Amino acid sequence: MTETGSSTEKKRLFIKSYGCQMNVYDSERMADVLAPLGYEPVDAPEGADLVVLNTCHIREKATEKVYSELGFIKQMKADRKADGGAMQVVVAGCVAQAEGEEIMRRQPAVDLVVGPQSYHQLPELIARASRARGERLATDFAPEAKFDALAKTRTAGGVTAFLTVQEGCDKFCSFCVVPYTRGPEWSRPVDAILAEARSLAERGVREVTLLGQNVNAYAGEGGLASLARQLAKIDGLDRIRYTTSHPNDMDDALIAAHAEVEELMPYLHLPVQAGSDRILKAMNRSHTADSYLKVIEKIRAARPDMAISGDFIVGFPGEREADFQATLDLVEAVGHAAAFSFKYSRRPGTPAAAMQGQIAEDVKVERLARLNALLDSQQAAFNQAQVGRTLGVLFERPGRRPGQVVGRSPFLQPVHIEGGAELIGQILPVHIVSATKGSLTGALLSQVAA
Ligand code: 5AD
Ligand code: SF4
Repeated sequence: MTETGSSTEKKRLFIKSYGCQMNVYDSERMADVLAPLGYEPVDAPEGADLVVLNTCHIREKATEKVYSELGFIKQMKADRKADGGAMQVVVAGCVAQAEGEEIMRRQPAVDLVVGPQSYHQLPELIARASRARGERLATDFAPEAKFDALAKTRTAGGVTAFLTVQEGCDKFCSFCVVPYTRGPEWSRPVDAILAEARSLAERGVREVTLLGQNVNAYAGEGGLASLARQLAKIDGLDRIRYTTSHPNDMDDALIAAHAEVEELMPYLHLPVQAGSDRILKAMNRSHTADSYLKVIEKIRAARPDMAISGDFIVGFPGEREADFQATLDLVEAVGHAAAFSFKYSRRPGTPAAAMQGQIAEDVKVERLARLNALLDSQQAAFNQAQVGRTLGVLFERPGRRPGQVVGRSPFLQPVHIEGGAELIGQILPVHIVSATKGSLTGALLSQVAA
């Protein structure tokens, strides 16, 4: 990377992240690789020198949102030019990968389209784009190079961090674009992950969340179970989480690790999507409601307090009332601590988009409301059940009110207490005194006892 320009001049960088945690992580990495060029993050696109939209392609609405956002940005770019400045506009992420140059055809204000494998090349690409209307599309670089370049430039953050260990998906659920946009499953080597985790721990990170579209299909030596056991040995790294998992990749070794490795937190995001076998088959999920429940049973045998979270889709093509009822039944059977639910959205090019029996919007809306009511009540009950208990809380940041500090329980619930910033970075026992649907309130056990 030689064409990175002067590093003395300060430039304003606005990055907007859409969609999943992977994108939040990628946006941080993009800010990191652009920092040496003098780019400093700002909170609004107006007047920025560089605007990056880090897009998500999972649901159709998200793609349309990007185009509508680009409409506003086009105007800002024109304003900037009228003021004698210049604004560069980059579209990154899955929409970039999927739509490629089509984006620039549809919205000429876009200077550069860059796929998820090429973020480490952003500085070079941006420098080139600003000189000429030369090479703009770079979506086919090897993933390994991406990680190596990004890992070196990581800047220190807070007490928790995301760590990508796996990318891509070979599952081809019939509704999903990920296998097309993120490509085949690929796992980062163990050594590279351990090195990055050690350097994070040295900078005060106490909790890592391992990221991957199919994180529990992690295929580095020994699989995810072995990786978790090695990470758990790193000094200072006290909490390990991972997301997102597929039920079929929840192997016995990983389940056993949950029983034995204290650092593995008792919270598992394990999407099931639907409770009807007919719909699961049409979704190409390659598991049944029953096989999913058996996995949950095994997990709870290993770790009885495991909090379960999931993703659900309502209104998949062909979903009848009885199928939807089967989803509600499965939700009842599992008992969720948290969940994400979506109306099915038709993604062009995926098999489900061409299926007969697309469901009317009002039916989807009504089913989603019923599902959410059930999931909300489960989440509220799960939180309420913590009242009177003592939980280890990792304090992460000051609260909104002065004199308040916020952390997370092992079950990922936000926990508020009265306390000072000196608690940030510590894991301390907290007596839980009250709960709402979204969070817990408590007091340090030391204060309660005193
Ligand atoms: N429509 C609705 N929800 C979807 N998801 C993925 N693709 C679609 C789609 N076409 C949801 C799934 C997945 C989550 C990340 O997004 O539930 O687990
Ligand atoms: Fe998409 Fe299915 Fe792969 Fe998850 S497992 S990323 S839903 S194809």
